[in-house]
Order: sequence, then C-alpha cells, then structure tokens
Amino acid sequence: MNKKTAILTSGGDAPGMNSAIRSFTRRALWEGYEVYGIISGFEGLINEEILKLKSRDVGLIINQGGTFLKTSRSEKFKTKEGLKKAADFLLKKKIGSLCVIGGEGSFSGLLELSRYYDGQLIGIPGTIDNDIPGTEYTIGFQTAVETAVMAVDKIRDTAFSHGRIFFIEVMGRKCGEIALAVALACGAEDVLIPESPTNIDELSERLMKNKESGKRFSIIVVAEGDDAGGAFKIAEKVEKKTGLPHRVAILGHIQRGGPPCAFDRIMALNMGDRAFEFIKKGLNLVFTAVKGGHIEPAYLKQVKVETKSVKEAAVNTVRIMGTI
Ligand code: F6P
Repeated sequence: MNKKTAILTSGGDAPGMNSAIRSFTRRALWEGYEVYGIISGFEGLINEEILKLKSRDVGLIINQGGTFLKTSRSEKFKTKEGLKKAADFLLKKKIGSLCVIGGEGSFSGLLELSRYYDGQLIGIPGTIDNDIPGTEYTIGFQTAVETAVMAVDKIRDTAFSHGRIFFIEVMGRKCGEIALAVALACGAEDVLIPESPTNIDELSERLMKNKESGKRFSIIVVAEGDDAGGAFKIAEKVEKKTGLPHRVAILGHIQRGGPPCAFDRIMALNMGDRAFEFIKKGLNLVFTAVKGGHIEPAYLKQVKVETKSVKEAAVNTVRIMGTI
C-alpha cells in the first residue's frame, strides 16, 4: 500500500483551512503515512515546491486565518502541459494520494488531473462563499459572515447618526449566501443577490416608503455579483430615482481573513480527519460533503440543485422585517 500522501490549498483562501491541514496531517502521521505539503496550490505541483510535514509543523495554526501552505489561482494548471507536469511530479515523488482544500474550480482541477494521475484524489470544500453543490457547508463561511456582521453593526451606528442609506457590498460573485446571512443577522432593510433579479424601481419605492414611515436610515446588503451591478452602480441608480443621501461600503477581502471562528475550526478539523479516512478506505474523486449535518463522501462532480426559491423566500423575509 502506498503510504505517501500530500495536501494543498487552492483558489481563494478561507479561515479554517489551516485547521483542516493540521488534522489531515496529524491523522495521516498517526496512521504511519509520510505527509507532504504542496506550496501555493496547484502551482506548487508544477513548480515542484514541496515540504515534508511533521506534527510540529502544523502546530499553532488552528487559530490562524489564511493558509500556511499558501494558495493560488493557477492558470498553468488549466493547460494540458501544466496538468501533465503536476501529475509527473506526483508520480516522480511516488505520492499515492492528494487532498485538495478549495472551491468548485479546484474540484474541477482535480477531475482534470485524474486524466493524467492514477493516485487517489480527495477534496475538502473550502471557500467563504458556501457555494459548492452537494454540500451544506464550506469551510470559512461562518467566519466570513461573523466578520461582515461586525462591520455592518459598526456602519449602522454612523448610518443612524447621519440618517443615510448605506449600500454595503459583501463577497459572492455568483452566490448570495453571505449576503443573505449577513442581512438576516443584521436586520438589514434589504438584500440584493445574484439568484434573484433586482428591480431598481421597486427598491427605490421601498426605500421611499421606509423614509415616509419614519425610518431614519436603511442598510442594503449587496452581493458583489448582483445582476444590477455592484454597490456603487446600484447606489447611483437609486440616487437618481430617490435623491436620498447615501454612502457605499465595500467590505472586500477583510471577509476572507482573520482567525477562524470555533465552528470553522471544528468543521475543518473533522473534514481533514475524514478526508484522510477516505484515503485509507481507498476512495477516489470524492470530497467531504456535509449532508444533514454529517460529513459523507460525495463525488467531486455534483449536479447543482436549484435553491432559487429558498433564497427568494429568505430575501422576502429580510424585506418584511425591514419594511414593516
Ligand atoms: O473565494 C471566493 C471569493 O472570495 C469570492 O467571494 C470573490 O468573488 C473572489 O473570491 C475574489 O477573488 P480574488 O481574491 O481572487 O479577487
């Protein structure tokens, strides 16, 4: 049996990734495996940047944001040459399995790699967006939401003092999960997400009604990928319709950093541990998916389940709570 395994982080970093690296490494060492950390994601496979990991190397990282293995969005890995180079390196090093912590793009990368590499390939869902089909949770989401909620709470103070509308943009190019959670937790007046079409006239009307009903200020949470544009564009359009005073805040990458919350540390720890178990069981091309609160193997290629109606219902709840 091949007892050499490797781990890397890929795509956007997410708080909690370090906890998964730690648990995967320690569980594998416990089972008598040699463990290698690949530096800077798939780029590290192509550039042959590798680090043999001992238990102490993954000490003191469970509470750290980012990823100590570093990450990248590798363009080279999308080419045949890049994939072949990566596979050849794994074969040259006699590594029998690879665990990748990342988002949907990283999982697609693993599927591509399987055309040239016959070792085991296992994924751990890690992205603040919580947008990977087949799992209820991705590492980093809860911490990102907590960070954004803290920021919105601060902005609300100044919004109230000045009586302004605030358009607050959170991350999520294709997915409104962060925006919805933040809007619900902060009692925002409105939320705009890519999954639900934004109507500027209706939004402007709701804001005018809020004002007439005595609301001094409004908080509108905008997912960066909303169909009507980002927060700046939407604010401009609403200003033209209403003339109401407003400001824009883009929360940006602060949502990706900082110490992971306890939930992310624990979830990541369990996923890293289970990912190694999957390797030991001989599974291949699966990832640690959360289903009904439990971690189970699911195929890397999952069909997207339509969640539009659930999200529209949540948008509606935000609006009812924010306009009554
Ligand atoms: O990792 C996911 C994410 O944070 C998205 O929410 C965001 O759109 C994107 O990454 C930003 O990526 P980058 O850091 O490469 O600009």
